[in-house]
Amino acid sequence: MKILQVKHYDEMSQKAAELLIDRIRRSPGINLGLATGGTPVGLYAQMVNDHQKNHTSYRDVTTFNLDEYMGLSGEDPNSYRLFMDKHLFNHIDIQKSNTHVPIGDTDNPNQQCSDYENLIERHGGIDLQVLGIGSNGHIGFNEPGTSFHSETHIVELTPSTREANARYFNSLNEVPSHAISMGIASIMRSREIVLLVSGDAKRDALEHLLQGDVNESFPASILKTHPAVTIIADEAAIGKT
Ligand code: GLP
Repeated sequence: MKILQVKHYDEMSQKAAELLIDRIRRSPGINLGLATGGTPVGLYAQMVNDHQKNHTSYRDVTTFNLDEYMGLSGEDPNSYRLFMDKHLFNHIDIQKSNTHVPIGDTDNPNQQCSDYENLIERHGGIDLQVLGIGSNGHIGFNEPGTSFHSETHIVELTPSTREANARYFNSLNEVPSHAISMGIASIMRSREIVLLVSGDAKRDALEHLLQGDVNESFPASILKTHPAVTIIADEAAIGKT
């Protein structure tokens, strides 16, 4: 894993945007894997900014998001579909039909999982995956204990993840209990991965990732076995404040 140390959140977002824009300009038909959460918001803002200023085109780009809450429709303000539309897709020239987020309010979640996995495969896989990390080491919504062989699947969220994400909802009760998430094997098939880590709330997770061994009890640890991972981490996350 290559580690790029930056000063603060804005610089992390800037560096991540530079990396993505470089890959998009080199491969206009790139398949991007995208993440939600607070961490990549600045990255998406930089991409929008660059699109407006430098006209980087997303016309031939296809995207696959990591996950979606079960039971939420794409119009729900807390859905990851709406998050992506609001922060990125509505502001760039991507074709909406090329943006994929698991469907959370499906009648047949198991079918949705295998359909999503097949969709990624049919498109030739993900070239570049953006990741954040949960404080318990989760990637996507793959909680501790998830098999490293998992593909897109239904996940029961841990109390700590529900609490961490409750800030976006009116109350903890409204946070869905389950999500559909790309699996760890799905994530690891990406040809390149960028992991963004910012803030002191992620310091223990980053330390665990860098110092600990590869173990299903800490999902992100699998990234150590991937040949092309760049971690972009700020000083607060690294422990230099
Ligand atoms: C959620 C998402 C993850 C994200 C994590 C961290 O659980 N499913 O993809 O990486 O939260 O979120 P944040 O960036 O807000 O700390």
